[in-house]
Amino acid sequence: CGIVGYIGPREAYPVVIKGLKRLEYRGYDSTGVALIDNGKLNVYKKKGKVAELEENVIGADLHSHIGIGHTRWATHGEPSDRNAHPHVSNSGQFAMLHNGIIENYVPIKNDLLKKGYTFKSDTDTEVLLNFIEDIKKNNNCTLEEALRIALKRIVGAYCILLIDEKDPDTIIAARKGSPLVIGIGKGEHFLASDASPIIEYTKEVVYVNDYEIAIVRADELILKNLGNEKQTPFIQQLDMELAAIEKGGYDHFMLKEINEQPETIFDCLRGRLIATTGQIIMSGIDNNIDILVNAQRIVIVACGTSWHAGLVAEYFFEELCRIPVEVEYASEFRYRNPIISKGDVIIAISQSGETADTLVALENAKEQGAFIFGVVNAVGSSIARLSHAGAYTHSGPEIGVASTKAFTGQLAVLMMMGLKIAYAKGTIDHNRYVELMKSLESVPEKVKEILANVDTIKAIAEKYKDAKDFLFLGRGYNFPVALEGALKLKEVSYIHAEGYPAAEMKHGPIALVDENLPVVFAATKDRYYEKIVSNVQEIKARKGKVIAVASMGDEVIPNMANDTMFVSDIDEVIAPILSVVPLQLLSYFIGIAKGFDVDKPRNLAKSVTVE
Ligand code: G6P
Repeated sequence: CGIVGYIGPREAYPVVIKGLKRLEYRGYDSTGVALIDNGKLNVYKKKGKVAELEENVIGADLHSHIGIGHTRWATHGEPSDRNAHPHVSNSGQFAMLHNGIIENYVPIKNDLLKKGYTFKSDTDTEVLLNFIEDIKKNNNCTLEEALRIALKRIVGAYCILLIDEKDPDTIIAARKGSPLVIGIGKGEHFLASDASPIIEYTKEVVYVNDYEIAIVRADELILKNLGNEKQTPFIQQLDMELAAIEKGGYDHFMLKEINEQPETIFDCLRGRLIATTGQIIMSGIDNNIDILVNAQRIVIVACGTSWHAGLVAEYFFEELCRIPVEVEYASEFRYRNPIISKGDVIIAISQSGETADTLVALENAKEQGAFIFGVVNAVGSSIARLSHAGAYTHSGPEIGVASTKAFTGQLAVLMMMGLKIAYAKGTIDHNRYVELMKSLESVPEKVKEILANVDTIKAIAEKYKDAKDFLFLGRGYNFPVALEGALKLKEVSYIHAEGYPAAEMKHGPIALVDENLPVVFAATKDRYYEKIVSNVQEIKARKGKVIAVASMGDEVIPNMANDTMFVSDIDEVIAPILSVVPLQLLSYFIGIAKGFDVDKPRNLAKSVTVE
């Protein structure tokens, strides 16, 4: 979910609405705002995107200098007007919104029901709000005190904004496990799940920590811990530009972000990879080189697309660094009592740096003594702060829900890491090291060549857009690319797609092959080339339609395939960062051809801060 708050001399409603639009990528199944005008709390909520709420409130009283707003990704209760946030307490005095999950809400709700409380929604949030109201009433204490007591008794994750009809000068906020940034203006404050709604007003921000409560007034910001002790706010400067979070002439963020990849990969390599002198400068690695070189094992923990980047890393870390690697879904890793030994290095990969499963998996591993290295895009995010060391991907804000530029940024960082560790460890020789550095350096130009040929990919998308299923196949370094290609297609076109190792396809998915099944091969020139040629033949023999990602200059695969998307020839170790790009475009164009909102696919959220 995305949350926004404003308090100060401006009209709060437009600030909150604009902020919610910036955060819609975090959830968009319902929207709501709470405002206070003339001592009266006004709450407006609507199922659907922010624009639907806007249409619905025309003519309503929107005047207010305090406002909180929410764009929801449903956990408890279906998306509907009544389940939308903010919720109002039984007395009608307090309004609250919440990002996260209250795990023990059922017994609390039962208690409240016994006391006569009623609930308008199915949400855990409304339970927490009435719990706070009940505590306040019973203890005759301040709202802040009641919130503090309640937070000590709940289990779960939250970022909360709370307002009181009788105190239009204060927003109370609290966080545990869900992000909250406060922007400091002149006589005004902005609150949001990330910095994007804040950036156009101020560059001074405070990232609220877990177990902190913020009391926010127009000209005052007080931070306290749950023990009621004041904390000194740590003010940071944002280095993000507004242009980075706007569409800049593209129809969709997804297309903009795919097209940005030559620059984002370049930015990621810039100042780090210097092939001419054979240097890779990454302070997170330099400062911990002994730990990394002597790692007994690397465990990569991630979700979604980031998990796929981890799989690519497994291939080259094992090959280049000769360190055993395991790649784990964070959600599985955190619950299965994994064995973590001294000498294990955990690499956490996350675009947002806020994914709840990844975050908690890391917290557990850290407690057990593991060394955590974060590969994160969002600067200052929770995972970045929790890591012992790390390297940012520097891909800039990624707004499209389906990850594109963050993935190639992750690959670029992981590849530099692998090279650097391998070289320090002596598991690759100087020539190979420099050769791979040069290959990596050539990636931005080679991505540009792919982007110059979008028309071919667009035509392929048109041709296959009505298929019911897709199969994506690849071997070796291109196997994770096949998985990522299938995930992208599912996310933005709602077509069922499966990614598989090309050879393993014989053990099941081949039963699906007929003249209606498009099979996408990531089949660039590498050590598996002859083998994948055979796999293409196996599909052709069963009348499947073959769409290939092939190396420029290859004549064999394009001859066999029904359609081909070319990428420049590159060292196989680096190949995934190129071969994924045509697959991103293919998904984009199929999604568009089917008329879907590719930036906000149904049911998905960009940053999943619930487990
Ligand atoms: C969500 C997003 C995916 C992303 C995954 C992991 O599912 O929709 O695009 O890959 O979360 O997110 P992270 O921010 O940790 O990389």
